[in-house]
Amino acid sequence: MLQLTKIGPRDYRGDLLVYLTRQPGKGSPRVASGAVDGVVRRVHALGDFSGKEGEHLLFYPEQEKPGMPSAKRILVVGLGKDEPSREMFRKAGGTIASLAMKSEVRELLLVLPDIACGMADMVEGLSEGIVLGAYRFNKYKTKKVPDAAGEMLQQVALYAEENKGAGPALKLAELVARSACQARDMANEPANYWTPVHFSEYGRQLAAAHGMRCTVLDHARLKKLGMGGILGVNQGSAQPPEMVILEYAVKPNAPTLLLVGKGLTFDSGGISLKPSLGMEEMKYDMCGGAAVLCAMQAVAQAKLKGLNLVAIVPATENLPGPAALKPGDVITQYGGKNVEVVNTDAEGRLILADALAYGIKKYKPDMVIDVATLTGAVIIGLGHHRTGLLSNDDDLCDRLLVAGERSGEPLWRLPLDPEYTKQLKSEIADLKNVGKKDGGTITAAAFLKEFVGEIPWAHLDIAGTAWDFTEKSYIPKGPSGIAVRTLFDFIRNWKK
Ligand code: BES
Ligand code: ZN
Ligand code: ZN
Repeated sequence: MLQLTKIGPRDYRGDLLVYLTRQPGKGSPRVASGAVDGVVRRVHALGDFSGKEGEHLLFYPEQEKPGMPSAKRILVVGLGKDEPSREMFRKAGGTIASLAMKSEVRELLLVLPDIACGMADMVEGLSEGIVLGAYRFNKYKTKKVPDAAGEMLQQVALYAEENKGAGPALKLAELVARSACQARDMANEPANYWTPVHFSEYGRQLAAAHGMRCTVLDHARLKKLGMGGILGVNQGSAQPPEMVILEYAVKPNAPTLLLVGKGLTFDSGGISLKPSLGMEEMKYDMCGGAAVLCAMQAVAQAKLKGLNLVAIVPATENLPGPAALKPGDVITQYGGKNVEVVNTDAEGRLILADALAYGIKKYKPDMVIDVATLTGAVIIGLGHHRTGLLSNDDDLCDRLLVAGERSGEPLWRLPLDPEYTKQLKSEIADLKNVGKKDGGTITAAAFLKEFVGEIPWAHLDIAGTAWDFTEKSYIPKGPSGIAVRTLFDFIRNWKK
């Protein structure tokens, strides 16, 4: 979709020519392009355009006018006056994509602005913003409405007189943004079309395409291994559970990172049934699993070399069928700990506990990151703007905070003192799966911590950000694809 071009604005005769402009302290913004500057000056004088972030000016040039480019449409998008950043360009990219799609153009030429900032940040930000902003999910619409014509924008050409370093930046950005869109696709699929077996099929395909190893633990293997968490949660469902494992090996002496993603393809709550209002959103309870698989996809495509990776996605539905877990039942997790299941709706931690304990024992990773739509409480605490981060390791946290910031997916660390674990004491088993209502995000993490031990570990609670994520030009309604780009950035920038 994206490419660099040598065709400049003077020779371009296509559908849409796009300029970016900063908001100057005083006076009219400039795009440094002859007659176009004249138009911007006039519109600025009318008070209609100042170059603010999100503001735009779309016009239809008179081609006879000397110095005026011959494109059919010209769009000038405001960047605002903040310090240039990847996020500034991402937002501009999102604005460009949505306006281009509104005009139903098939291709556009974007002129890179002459701004003092790194070429890679600018090109990556714009490219990500355009791909993420052009995302639509139309699969189940039989009538193609124009606004939903996601297939419309086919080609985006970027032009700069000097474009050193832009090529690789553009490739990497397009690839990671596409992986995030893939995670959105998985999440958008309804739960009758995206069941646990779809995770294993996807994992196998990824492995075949990119030279990774994929292992799927089926019901019989899970039973043999003693994974009472995922098996217990699965008891009320007609769909068998799947535990998908992907391995991406770069070199034996590189550190190994274990990724674990919650792949709950529908969470009804089980016998502790959820209220029906909004329950349809619980098809998104697999967004952690989607993020982890799609991050693996991006890393493998980009052939990143810094870390060995293992990804595990425990996948099941949580339904109240006749064999379902009942409140008060005791299950035995992988590794032997007994858990009293006081609330069957706190199922994510049960399937993650098996996956974490198994992954750590089997692959002996140097660090672990899990991603899960784990608690409604994180939405009470942080709203829809930041992912909750809980961890036993300051260095891992700092790296994730930086990766999230660079990716426009900010995180916020919550405490995880040993006091919180007290809430999980059970009268009859080693621990129970819920504490009191207070500090729900922290007690959920405290439960996971019991299965991690001393190894550096971070838990991302994406319940507030996996969908309904903060409003931005490149974030659609519905699933956001959160954490794919953050994980990719974390891995890409890994250095001891
Ligand atoms: N999948 C939910 C968490 C969730 C809630 C995600 C809302 C996104 C939006 C999870 O399995 C769950 O039900 N958690 C319970 C835990 C409680 C029973 C301790 C919750 O948060 O209410
Ligand atoms: Zn639940
Ligand atoms: Zn859940």
